[in-house]
Amino acid sequence: MEHLINPQVKDIQISGIRKISNLVSTIPGALTLTIGQPDFPTPRHIIEAGQRALDQNKTVYTQNPGLLELREAVSSFVQTKYGQQYRAADEIIVTAGASQAVDITLRTILTPGAEVIIPAPIYPGYEPLIRLAGGIPVYVDTRPNGLKLTAELLEPYLSANTRCVILCYPSNPTGQVLTEQELADLAQLLEDRELFILSDEIYSELVYGVRHQSIATMGKLREKTIVINGLSKSHAMTGWRVGFTLAPAYITEHMVKVHQYNVTCASSVSQYAALEALTVGIDDALPMRNAYEVRRDYVYDRLLAMGFELEKPNGAFYLFPSIAKFGLSSQEFTMRLLHEEHVAVVPGDAFTSYGEGYIRISYAYSQEVLEQSLDRLERFVNKLA
Ligand SMILES: Cc1ncc(COP(=O)(O)O)c(C=O)c1O
Repeated sequence: MEHLINPQVKDIQISGIRKISNLVSTIPGALTLTIGQPDFPTPRHIIEAGQRALDQNKTVYTQNPGLLELREAVSSFVQTKYGQQYRAADEIIVTAGASQAVDITLRTILTPGAEVIIPAPIYPGYEPLIRLAGGIPVYVDTRPNGLKLTAELLEPYLSANTRCVILCYPSNPTGQVLTEQELADLAQLLEDRELFILSDEIYSELVYGVRHQSIATMGKLREKTIVINGLSKSHAMTGWRVGFTLAPAYITEHMVKVHQYNVTCASSVSQYAALEALTVGIDDALPMRNAYEVRRDYVYDRLLAMGFELEKPNGAFYLFPSIAKFGLSSQEFTMRLLHEEHVAVVPGDAFTSYGEGYIRISYAYSQEVLEQSLDRLERFVNKLA
């Protein structure tokens, strides 16, 4: 009967990030720098808000787009932090993580054959959802430009079939952010075209020495942009599964139907916790961000001293050094590092084939784990040289 399974689903591969982290668990004593989630616990007052919701039996369906008071909190959070202006009533949907937000966006805007342009190397969560929605991913190789998308790089890929451009900044896996000028150039290129922009800003609270800016606040872009954000990274809440979308009412109105028949609503208990996070905990990300910044500097300096070539990124919690000079593919490099020195990093090819020649190191780990892992990496690199 397996031949009856949807071939598009059969074609989907398990993410390369999961593959390596599953392998790590089979190697005793292995250290891992693979996972993209905060190593901090969810702030205590948020956990208590979730517990209170349980104690008060707030365990029933909420409105489909989420509790109105939570949408109001989202509205005021993004206005205060990033100058984004969205009405709680009809321009915000609370989702089960940013992942579900990406899914309902793509299923709302894509039709069979529609092309989606994505800068690469990139987070592997978009392509399967694009394909399931009938769309075709079209990658723009950003390696020649220091892993950054520019209007100039993007322009040749735009066609009558382009339905959507995905932007992810700060980026997973590169940590790169887009500057105000870079966003303004992209906005100028895109504002008069008939296409949507999916702007994944899940790492917006984790920027170092710069201010997060959203393309949705540039020129006429608000009208065609769906912003995706959430609490997974900012408030160390990956397991609570709370994300949200910000989009003009004429798009949100249709997204909410897909959302309704997909999950009805995000978890009620998680929504009450999220309400606490986005009101009382509006600045909860700051101490974590400060810690990540110190770690970024530490890991970056050590990698440079080992002879790696890499850009110093201003966001998220990843470094993406080139391994080209070692003459190994990203799979060979990471497998040998794991088996010989018992340290796991993610091979660049987990972020599309355009990530070949790189590895991703997550620094969302304690200083102690980082130090030990980098000592092992250094031994490995010295052996290669
Ligand atoms: C760029 C990007 N978008 C979306 C997500 C999904 O986030 P969530 O856990 O809120 O679904 C991730 C998670 O790693 C990510 O890196």
